[in-house]
Amino acid sequence: TQAPDLAVRWNCKAGKCGSCSAEINGKPRLMCKARVRDYTDGEAPIVVHPLKTFPLVKDLVTDVSWNFRVKQGIQRFQPRPKQADGTWRMSQRDADRVQEFRKCIECYLCQDVCHVLRDHGKHDEFIGPRFFVYAANLEMNPIDVEDRVPALKDAHGIGYCNITKCCTKVCPEQIHITDNAIIPLKERVVDRYFDPLTRLLRVFK
Ligand code: SF4
Ligand code: F3S
Repeated sequence: TQAPDLAVRWNCKAGKCGSCSAEINGKPRLMCKARVRDYTDGEAPIVVHPLKTFPLVKDLVTDVSWNFRVKQGIQRFQPRPKQADGTWRMSQRDADRVQEFRKCIECYLCQDVCHVLRDHGKHDEFIGPRFFVYAANLEMNPIDVEDRVPALKDAHGIGYCNITKCCTKVCPEQIHITDNAIIPLKERVVDRYFDPLTRLLRVFK
């Protein structure tokens, strides 16, 4: 009622569309899930800033289109041939493992808080935690046959992540970004490129 011309992006108001991300009293949050009453005791005034990691459009609206371009650069789902009965099957355990990653609402709070993007501006060399979650969802799907490990090591810059876990702390979907997505992907890169035994076996192939 006090600033009818304030630019702010929102859609569902239920914490599911990922549109209303901002920094409230310095912490990345979804505005629709932040209650004024949670801040009134000793935290006045409440200060709301736009996401710092992306270019400002106006007021609380930032241009997050860099994320859309990054997503386009990740190798697509590539299914293996169907089984004889015309279906694909996967174990419940494998289904549960990737299901966690599919909860992502693309709010980009994790991208906003990761120091590699926020403080070091490595947008050209590092895809950020959101897209390691996306890559993990594809890479850990047993039906998928695409190999994303070389790109994770080089173009996607997974080595820049030094496991600070700031991304995990701000995820509104409580995805274990670091432990369940990034670390297993890092292990795949290490196994492929830096494990001495694997390197030795490659020489004798
Ligand atoms: Fe948002 Fe979590 Fe998805 Fe990151 S992983 S974009 S914090 S929902
Ligand atoms: Fe950044 Fe998360 Fe790694 S905040 S440094 S991607 S653990």
